[in-house]
Amino acid sequence: MDSSEKAGDKVIEWVSSMAEILKPDSVHWCNGSKSEYHSLCSVMLDSGTIMKLNEEKRPNSFLARSDPMDVARVEDRTFICSKNKEDAGPTNNWVDPEEMAEKLGVLFDGSMRGRKMYVIPFSMGPLGSDISHIGIQLTDSPYVAASMAIMTRVGSDILLELAEKEFVPCVHSVGAPLENGEQDVPWPCNDIKYIVHYPEDRSIWSFGSGYGGNALLGKKCFSLRIASVMARDEGWLAEHMLILGIENPEGEKIYVAAAFPSACGKTNLAMLVPPEGFDGWKITTVGDDIAWIKPGADGRLYAINPEAGYFGVVPGTSYKSNPTAMHMMERDTIFTNVALTDDGDVWWEGMGVDPPDHLIDWKGNDWTPKSPDAAAHPNARFTCSVQQCPSVDPEWDSPEGVPISAFIFGGRLSHTFPLVFQSFDWKHGVYMAATMGSEGTAAAVNQAAIRRDPMAMLPFCGYNMADYWAHWLSIENEVQSLPGIYRVNWFRRDKEGNFIWPGFGENMRILKWIFDRTKNKVKANKSPFGYMPKHEDINWKGLSFGRSEFASIMDINKKEGLDEVEAQKELFDRFNTRAPKELELQREALRERLSGGSDIWDSTS
Ligand code: OXD
Ligand code: MN
Repeated sequence: MDSSEKAGDKVIEWVSSMAEILKPDSVHWCNGSKSEYHSLCSVMLDSGTIMKLNEEKRPNSFLARSDPMDVARVEDRTFICSKNKEDAGPTNNWVDPEEMAEKLGVLFDGSMRGRKMYVIPFSMGPLGSDISHIGIQLTDSPYVAASMAIMTRVGSDILLELAEKEFVPCVHSVGAPLENGEQDVPWPCNDIKYIVHYPEDRSIWSFGSGYGGNALLGKKCFSLRIASVMARDEGWLAEHMLILGIENPEGEKIYVAAAFPSACGKTNLAMLVPPEGFDGWKITTVGDDIAWIKPGADGRLYAINPEAGYFGVVPGTSYKSNPTAMHMMERDTIFTNVALTDDGDVWWEGMGVDPPDHLIDWKGNDWTPKSPDAAAHPNARFTCSVQQCPSVDPEWDSPEGVPISAFIFGGRLSHTFPLVFQSFDWKHGVYMAATMGSEGTAAAVNQAAIRRDPMAMLPFCGYNMADYWAHWLSIENEVQSLPGIYRVNWFRRDKEGNFIWPGFGENMRILKWIFDRTKNKVKANKSPFGYMPKHEDINWKGLSFGRSEFASIMDINKKEGLDEVEAQKELFDRFNTRAPKELELQREALRERLSGGSDIWDSTS
């Protein structure tokens, strides 16, 4: 028996032992083929889970409406069940793994009764890449099986990789067994929800939800929570980052990876269309949500997008904010929880198109522009393949990954933080990323407290965040050619509360400055926060943004800066002595720079 047969036996054994617990009526092994996708769609059309959209307006596209109680990731029901509570850290929900296993044992016993169990062998990342990993998801939801076929690389050839690689077992059930021929509902789910990760076993158990990150287990659960643990143990990085390419008219190209908390326009940045004044410049997209980054033999960091599809937020997407995504969604897309027009197309708030006189809203009710509630759910999503993205990077599927020249971190902040600055060095950059965050949207402009979201990983780090910071710091010793680290803030406001920066495609101007810094083409001013661009080093062609506006978005107010230094203490204090000393040293150094003399404000580098 060769090693791949042995590995195959291991999978078969695991699947049969799980089937004994879950007790489905039948089992289907997915092969990821087009015809399988079509039969999954027919099953869902029959059960009313999806409906077909107008073939002329949206070819090969569908609309799904979820249960109104199953519309988003459930962070309060998401658990990291490490053996020791301290290893999950103060920012994760923790339950003792044995206690959790007992609870789940009861819930999963017979949870697939009356349903088909789909076995989905999938690869996160290109097959044959040493950055990729594989998983096997069991699910009783055809919506999840069809979505996994878009979001990951599904196929029987993945089983051949099992000879070399361990798989991450991912068990998912909507938790709605059908007893004695009971009639199904279009979106089965359960009021009780558990999204559970065992970091030591590297396994995932998800119960009760059929929606997005709760149910497509390759995404947040595997690619971030479990992969962050694998990355810590194996010396790489699993990050909540988009990856994009920037190419100048001469054909020189760099890749950057960027992390932003939710609602900061990550998908828009990943698919940016360069504005007027950037003839010949190109932005290409490798990924919009997750990056796996590994040191390469040449001393640089290489990144892949482990996903093969996009599961993006729809409301707010328009030909102005993201024309690329609008084109991408013109066909072959599953929409979930958007509104339906009378001619069988879709509509959502922020589409840049006036609402028609009548719609069917995301809950299936009649809607008119006078209706008090939104027609599309704010977390309505589109699911489609990376390959239909007009800006897809030619290397998106490369097993080697793409070399990363810069990391960008950002948040939604109305004050204190300038449009862009660069860290002095790696340690300073890790500190800048660890203290990032966004203001709560409900709070008053210019007074809102920052909700810290270190590296945009707060809901996604599968272990103690303090150890994660230490891991980031340790990368300095593993990589010869370290990427530059930048902080950006597209969302600063003036005294009247208006955004100062136009954002969207205009962010290209800042990407170009980062490109020029990477290529050593421009010097920068030193400030207490870091290196900052000079007005004349940004390409302003096609945008009127004078020196005084620039000054108002780049200005560092000493008092605001010192208040920020004090506020950061609360974050580090949450981790007691476990937070790396280096971060506290960086915080003290920033205080010194802000309180100190003027020399730092004037020098260049
Ligand atoms: C997402 C998120 O859905 O980050 O990508 O919340
Ligand atoms: Mn995300």
